[in-house]
Formats: sequence, C-alpha cells, structure tokens
Amino acid sequence: MPLTLHHVSHRYQQLTVLELDLTVARGEHLSLLGPSGCGKSTLLRLLAGLEAPSQGEVLLDGEPVRAGDPRLGIMFQDPLLYPWLTVAENIRYPLTLAANRGLPRGRVNELLAKVGLPAFAHSYPPQLSGGMAQRAALARAIVRHPDYLLLDEPFAALDAVTRMRLQSWLEALADSEGLTLVTVTHDVDEAILLGDRVVLMSPAPGRLTRSWQVGLPRPRDRTDARLLALRSEILTALYAVTGDEYGPHHTLAA
Ligand SMILES: Nc1ncnc2c1ncn2[C@@H]1O[C@H](COP(=O)(O)OP(=O)(O)OP(=O)(O)O)[C@@H](O)[C@H]1O
Ligand SMILES: [Mg+2]
Repeated sequence: MPLTLHHVSHRYQQLTVLELDLTVARGEHLSLLGPSGCGKSTLLRLLAGLEAPSQGEVLLDGEPVRAGDPRLGIMFQDPLLYPWLTVAENIRYPLTLAANRGLPRGRVNELLAKVGLPAFAHSYPPQLSGGMAQRAALARAIVRHPDYLLLDEPFAALDAVTRMRLQSWLEALADSEGLTLVTVTHDVDEAILLGDRVVLMSPAPGRLTRSWQVGLPRPRDRTDARLLALRSEILTALYAVTGDEYGPHHTLAA
C-alpha cells in the first residue's frame, strides 16, 4: 500500500511553499531532487506526519498519516543521537517507548552487525566518526521494522568517500530489510544512485516538474555510461529550474 500526498499545498504565513500530488509505491526507491529552499524538507516532514498540510491530505495505506507511526522511519542530515546513551542504547531507544515494548531485543544486535558497529555498541556518540554516527542513526531509524524510510539529505554533511560508502550501506540495508526509500537530496549523483525514479522539484512554490525512471538494476556502478548520461541530463534540468543562466557547462573565467 502506498504513501500518498493528495492535492497537497502547504503555506507558511502567506507564502505557499509546496503544491503537489505524489504517490510512493511500496518497494519503490524514490529520489526527490531540487534546489535549496524548494520545499524538500517540508515535503519530508509532511510525509512523516510531523507537520499537517495547509490543504489536501497525506495518506499512509489509505489513512491519514500520524507522526511516530512505526511503519515510517525517518533520518536527517544530522544524526541526532543522544550523547548520554551508548550506541546500542541509542538504537534500542525506540523499542523502549511504551507502544513498542513487545519487539525482540535481539534486533539491536542484528542491526549493530548490519551497520558494522558491533565493536562500538558500548561507545558514546562523541567517540564516533561522522559516518559511524550516521550508521547508528540509520540503525535507530529502522529498528522498528518500518515499511518506509524517509531520508532528508542523509549524507550531506559527510566527505565524498564516506558519503559513497554510506550510500552503499543504505542500499544493502534497504534490500535486506525490504524498505521503501524516499530520499530527499540536492545531489544528482545520490539521486540517481539510490532512486528507481528521480523527481525534480522546482522552487517557490515547490512543484514536481519532471521525473525520470533510472531503469538500471541496483546496486549500480557509479561509472556506468548510461548512469552518467542520465546524470548530465538531470544536471541540466536542475540548473534550468534553479534559474541559473549559465548551466553546467559554464566555467568562470579566471
Ligand atoms: N517553519 C517554517 N516557518 C516559515 N517558513 C518556513 C519554515 N520551514 C521552511 N520554511 C520556508 O519554506 C521554504 C522551503 O523550505 P525547506 O526547508 O522545505 O526547503 P529545502 O528544499 O529543504 O531547502 P534546503 O535544500 O536548503 O534544505 C523556504 O522558503 C523556507 O524559508
Ligand atoms: Mg532541507
């Protein structure tokens, strides 16, 4: 069953920041790409039920979505780990909430292994590198076996090599856990590596302007010529919605 934005528009005071219809099918990997300020984070908060749309509805399996629904996992650019809890305690934390007490404790050890952190189970977040902290946050986001994982620029704060490693971890986890992924990003490479479908948003108000089916099996080879051709097509479209008069071919004169 899908996650749907039905005739949604969203305003902050008098400013309409989003106007769109969108359906995410179960099992799909969707990337939402757009320039800064186009409403990507707002869109993700609406999908997660953290904010209610000014108009329209957000439906999870046909019912209005509620914040904290165990079918949804969510992850942000900042890992947001509790610094006073160990890595294992952070991952376990959602299981300790009243509604989730029945879930098996072995789940934490399973996830520590899946994100490569068993040796750091008893470390505290300030002792982790940025990439390790994001892997712990990823494990915490999926500890309750969500159907959907919603990600808001999850690796934007990491260096390029760590980001690529984390994208591969995420792909492997999504496959082994059967997750539907919705990744919001301004990074074309991330969008085409992770997504089966890439949707481009335009700014002010954020609307869906174009979409592409990537059409290549996952996991993908980042150097695949077909992926690189799609990359340059999407990059050109991203420049166009951003209103950049030069486009991706321009180099500034020294
Ligand atoms: N709580 C809020 N109150 C008022 N305006 C807001 C609020 N949150 C976002 N906005 C405005 O809504 C628009 C969309 O913001 P949003 O954070 O969703 O964009 P974004 O695409 O995630 O940007 P970025 O790529 O920089 O993260 C912006 O104009 C922003 O100033
Ligand atoms: Mg944002």
